[in-house]
Amino acid sequence: MTVREILKMGDARLLRTAPAVEAFDTPELHALVADMLETMAAVNGAGLAAPQIGVNLQVVIFGSGAVNPRYPQEPPIPATILLNPVITPLDDEEQVGWEGCLSVPGMRAMVPRWQRIRYSGFDVQGRAIDRTADGFHSRVVQHECDHLIGKLYPMRVRDFSQFGFTSVLFPGLDDNTDD
Ligand code: NI
Repeated sequence: MTVREILKMGDARLLRTAPAVEAFDTPELHALVADMLETMAAVNGAGLAAPQIGVNLQVVIFGSGAVNPRYPQEPPIPATILLNPVITPLDDEEQVGWEGCLSVPGMRAMVPRWQRIRYSGFDVQGRAIDRTADGFHSRVVQHECDHLIGKLYPMRVRDFSQFGFTSVLFPGLDDNTDD
């Protein structure tokens, strides 16, 4: 396993639409996921998408089963490896909440997302995943899956008066992406 470099906003590789994974349970796929898990853990990420390490495939990981130190107010999210995800909003209700991104280090914004979603896809072995989520869990899934269609959260911001540096917005928050 290797901690990989995380691409930053401005890199054109973050703007691509990723193709679906076609072969599950391969050594290459397991190696990719292992690198993603190690990379996300090294920076306390809430999630990570393969395009963020320059791999243009529909692979996202999120959650850890524990409270994330970068988002201490938010509930834990189950540790998940999700391939070829499909998201469906369950109703029209939106939520607005703070987001950061490992590809946009040191910043946060209030971002509108669907409140409740159903998401489906596959795990590394190709077994089906089908869940509903709301709140922060729903937000994280939408954020990570956006990376698979070339969307970074600043592209979703509507109110730019609530977009700024983490160190200013949340003084004292231990956010080691403030590099
Ligand atoms: Ni992100």
